[in-house]
Amino acid sequence: MNNNIVKACVIGDPVEHSLSPLIHTYWLNAYEISGCYSAHAIAAGQLQKGVKKLIDEGYAGFNVTIPHKQAVMDLCDEINETARSIGAVNTVIIGEDKKLTGMNTDVRGFIENILQERPAFDFEDKTALVLGAGGAARAVVYGLKASGVKIIYVANRTEGKAQKIAADFGCKVLSWAERVSHATDTDIIVNTTSLGMAGQGALEFDLADFSKDTLVCDIVYKPLDTNLILAAKQRGMPYVTGIGMLLHQAQPAFQEWFGFWPEVTEDLKKKALEAAQ
Ligand code: ATR
Repeated sequence: MNNNIVKACVIGDPVEHSLSPLIHTYWLNAYEISGCYSAHAIAAGQLQKGVKKLIDEGYAGFNVTIPHKQAVMDLCDEINETARSIGAVNTVIIGEDKKLTGMNTDVRGFIENILQERPAFDFEDKTALVLGAGGAARAVVYGLKASGVKIIYVANRTEGKAQKIAADFGCKVLSWAERVSHATDTDIIVNTTSLGMAGQGALEFDLADFSKDTLVCDIVYKPLDTNLILAAKQRGMPYVTGIGMLLHQAQPAFQEWFGFWPEVTEDLKKKALEAAQ
């Protein structure tokens, strides 16, 4: 391969269904940048070896997906403040000195998607309900707090994990059974669980007691219309689907590796959606 081509990739296991190659390749073509972006399956026990190979082959960096988002932190020479607070890295830059810098752009993806889709929504002093307490929930809670949300309720099937997030970020815990108990004070609901995703169970969540102005967000994008999004549509509530988060988290990484800020266009959104469904 030509050495002038800037190389980046996504690593994970499984990684073959990742939409990141489609997104980055779309931008490389659109902006006529001499680069390539591929997907590399690296098993959990092979992370260090796999990353060393990327460094040796002159990669500019890589995205990180399941199951490496936490483990890759041990391999980074530097981790930025956001990624450190969240406890997960999804983007790594390999410097010319071969040093690794870890970042988390999921937060930016989540917030920017809402800003683009619902520009009228004001985060300041609002109350949020976050469903789930995994890695995605930590990024969402961090982003909501950083954007000015005042009170965040976290409800998770395994309550101990919700308590950990609450302790780390100053949230309030609701039991999974009580997840709609603060309906009347909630301005924004975010589903970060895998419920609603194709092949998973449906999220059982009754929107009846929530105000019709409550913003309903789902980070699941396969299918785009999860049962939560469908319920919000039926009640005439504002909603934000998950595909935009994926597109917006990719922008800062592209700029870091390829030196150009790419746009999330309607055409790209359409292509990513077609590939996701
Ligand atoms: P991610 O990094 O994408 O957040 P994760 O860490 O595996 O992924 O988290 C998945 C989330 O979906 C968790 O909050 C999980 O709840 P538990 O902590 O109790 O496992 C939630 N989840 C998955 N299946 C669920 C189910 N059937 N009912 C309720 N919550 C579920």
